[in-house]
Amino acid sequence: MSVENHKTLAIIGQGYVGLPLAMAAVEAGWTVIGVDNFEAKVSQINFGSSPVEDISDEQLKSAIAKGRYKATTEFSSVAAATVITICVPTPLDNNREPDLSLLRSAARGIAPHISNETLVVSESTSYPGTLRNVIVPIISELKPKESQKLYFASAPERVDPGNKTWNQRNTPRLVGGIDNESEKRAHDFYQSICDAVVKVATPEVAEAAKLLENTFRLVNIALVNEFTQLCFASGINVQDVIDAAGTKPYGFMPFRPGVGVGGHCIPIDPLYLTWWARQNGSSAVFVEFADSINRLMPRYVAERALGMIDTKVNRPKVLILGVAYKPGVRDVRETPVSELRNALISHGVEVAWHDPLVPLWEDTTPVGINWDCDVAILSTKQPGIDVTQLIDRGVRILDCTNSIKNLAGVTTL
Ligand SMILES: NC(=O)c1ccc[n+]([C@@H]2O[C@H](COP(=O)([O-])OP(=O)(O)OC[C@H]3O[C@@H](n4cnc5c(N)ncnc54)[C@H](O)[C@@H]3O)[C@@H](O)[C@H]2O)c1
Repeated sequence: MSVENHKTLAIIGQGYVGLPLAMAAVEAGWTVIGVDNFEAKVSQINFGSSPVEDISDEQLKSAIAKGRYKATTEFSSVAAATVITICVPTPLDNNREPDLSLLRSAARGIAPHISNETLVVSESTSYPGTLRNVIVPIISELKPKESQKLYFASAPERVDPGNKTWNQRNTPRLVGGIDNESEKRAHDFYQSICDAVVKVATPEVAEAAKLLENTFRLVNIALVNEFTQLCFASGINVQDVIDAAGTKPYGFMPFRPGVGVGGHCIPIDPLYLTWWARQNGSSAVFVEFADSINRLMPRYVAERALGMIDTKVNRPKVLILGVAYKPGVRDVRETPVSELRNALISHGVEVAWHDPLVPLWEDTTPVGINWDCDVAILSTKQPGIDVTQLIDRGVRILDCTNSIKNLAGVTTL
């Protein structure tokens, strides 16, 4: 692959964010070097097998065949790039606080190889100040002497894996640079791959906006999860209530209840916000409450399912349908179904699971949908799950996805 092109982009992290960005950039005329420290993933990608659902093997193979894309574990390859984007995970540590160790190691990995006049962009989600106070100091300390002028910006990724409508190109991109030239260069770069680029005053505004977006989802999901419990206790179907409220043309946005929140964003990013608040001598109690309501939801769902089983059954059997954190993906990170299973087991239930997209989960394998059970819980509406045969067998279903309409034996959450 020739990397002498002036439009050479290096992307650190080739996962749900980095690989779709790479393919979007290839389409926009960039030559892309995908750096990832997970050797097996790099081999898989270079073999033409995509590890993420939104990118097909054909798309990947075509980019590789044209010589416009290659994955590597070699950080030194970023020397050829005029733009470097960082797309590594930003998880929580054991205390449920921000863990920037991967971000720091990515910054340390690229720093010694950065060429002069390179733009470095962080797309990873983090608290305000991460670019300026964590990434810039690491790179400034470790960069080569001759790389005197570097540019830095924050452009948080907004991708929604599995979403067929909104993608890299048509989702507006926020960009905040640490100075005017950084902002201009970041704007020009994203304009080459996105339809709309929105300049914001500082990287901190971009970082905070990303936390606000995902916290907005967290608290609204928590609200509707709490509301669900209030409605059920009074014999009201919460879905009817949400449909009714949703007829208001302004000032209301419908959210639906579910087993909880999962994935690498909604359960995690708001805790970056609560931690950041504490660092500033403040607290985000509203967000903390929302987090705890969502975290208790799997237990509530387990109790609702058990309430559907005849109390005379000695050791009930429950089949969980869908373990990925959302439909259409095989991603099980932070899936609330994990807590659901634990809650059922703690009630003495025999639990099995079925998910057409997930071959292995927490060291267990799926069962067929014909598994003999007392009740089934539809936790994630995965494509390929056919509930009709359960209904034909007379199995009762607790539908946590509001996707089964007017079928006998089905109760919505
Ligand atoms: N997944 C989403 O839906 C989504 C959406 C918007 C934003 N984000 C944010 O984007 C960032 C990346 O998330 P993701 O879902 O793509 O993660 P991911 O786990 O799918 O991919 C990250 C990749 O980075 C690699 N990696 C980890 N540390 C590295 C290092 N030091 N050097 C090189 N490679 C390294 C991993 O091997 C992995 O392949 C996170 O901050 C996340 O919050 C994710």
